[in-house]
Parts: sequence; structure tokens; C-alpha cells
Amino acid sequence: MVNITTCRELLDYYFEEDSGWSLSREELKRSFDEAKRSCNTCALVVINPGNPTGQVLTCDNNDNGLILLSDEVYQDNVYDKNSKFYSFKKVAYEMGEPYCSQYLVSFPSTSKGFLGECGIRGGRGQVAVSALVNPPRTGEPSYDLFQKEKSATLAAVKERAELVHKTLSSFEGYKVNPVQRPMHVFPQIEIPPKTIPVAKARGMAPNAFYAFEVLERSGSCSGFGQNPKTRHLSLPQHDPAAGGQAETDDR
Ligand SMILES: Cc1ncc(COP(=O)(O)O)c(C=O)c1O
Repeated sequence: MVNITTCRELLDYYFEEDSGWSLSREELKRSFDEAKRSCNTCALVVINPGNPTGQVLTCDNNDNGLILLSDEVYQDNVYDKNSKFYSFKKVAYEMGEPYCSQYLVSFPSTSKGFLGECGIRGGRGQVAVSALVNPPRTGEPSYDLFQKEKSATLAAVKERAELVHKTLSSFEGYKVNPVQRPMHVFPQIEIPPKTIPVAKARGMAPNAFYAFEVLERSGSCSGFGQNPKTRHLSLPQHDPAAGGQAETDDR
């Protein structure tokens, strides 16, 4: 998810689920001001497009003079016609001084998007990194095939995300925001009431019980920071040919 990073600790800030996981200035300021009490905030980490929320941020800015650590590994995976990927570098540049001079580190990855899967790690594959930052250009022999394969991969994950969104939206107790990019669907779930006595009988909190059930049944479960009053199920859709993988937030 996203955090304001301080020299000693990580501080969460939360997206607003009801407005499509948008990031509000007020919430950023709240976290930043809270951090001031104990330490000197030095960097802001933003994941755009996000994981696991799948949101694509609108054109906004950062005016606290922080180092911006911008994780943009999902930038090719935007398909919602109402969303557009804005790189922080482009936005900062267009805003002029002082924003265009602030320190900014942007992170791409070979393991996301269309190029590869999680097995191809940036640190291990210089060839993959080279292909990522220097894709075939118009007129080059492999350009047409590259475009064809890229479109086919992105279309497959889009189709899969739509299917998952439609299916989950039909479940009782699930609230699913429109998916702005494939690969992650992040429905809010109400813990089923019948779960509560069963969980209590086992001496567990209902949400922890639910998370362990997901772990037992799907083989996968992990936590993501989010508004503590809510519960979500994270569903990455990395490989169209493979089965879905479920993760829950147990906070
Ligand atoms: C937003 C985001 N950034 C980075 C990574 C890690 O990418 P890599 O496979 O290059 O380690 C992930 C992995 O899931 C991710 O979701």
C-alpha cells in the first residue's frame, strides 16, 4: 500500500474507498502532521497505479519538499477509460519550480505489466530490464510482434479482471469498486455474522478467523494497511492462464 516514510518508522495514510480509492490532500497532511510529533519525515512513498487497491491517481501534487519514491510498476496496466496514468516525473516537471527540482525516484519492474511474471526479477535479469526501458521502436523488425504480444497480454488480464469484478460484485456482503486497472481487485467484505460465534468458540477474532479460513482454502493470505474499520480481500490476477490467488487483510 502507501506510506509516509520517516527516518525511523513507516506511517500509513489511507485512500478514500468511497471515491474510487482517491488520495486526499487532507489525509496526506494528517499523516504528515502526525509524523512531525515524533520525527522528521524525509520521504513520501506513492504506489501508482496501486496494489492492492488498483487505483490510478489523478493529476495531483506533493508540496512538502519530500523525496518522492514513486512506485510505478503497474503503469502499463491501466484500461479504465476514465483513468489515465500520470508519471510523477512528468507532473513534477510540468508544475515547474520548486516541484521539478525535487528529488524523485521512480521504480519500474520487469515483473509487472506485460513483460514478465514475478519470476523475472529486475536484479536478476539485465536483458529483461534492458527490454523494459528500451522496447522495440516503430520500424524495427520486432516492433509489430512486440505490439501484438503486449496488447494480447494486457487484453487477457483486463478480461480476467472484469470477470472477477462481475463475479465478486454478485456476492452478498462484498462491495467492489470499479476496477481501474487489471491484476488487482480489492473488494470490501463484511465478515459473515455466522462466522462470529464460530470464531469466538475457537478463541479467535472474527476477521482473523476469516483470514485463516481463506489461507486454508486458497493457500494464500497476506495483510495490507488500510482503514482499520474496514476489511478487504485482495485478489491479484497475475497470470490469465492460472487460477486466482486470494489475500486478505486481517487487521
Ligand atoms: C506495487 C508493487 N511494486 C513492486 C513490486 C515488486 O516488484 P518486483 O517483482 O520487481 O520485485 C510489487 C509486487 O507485487 C508491487 O505490487
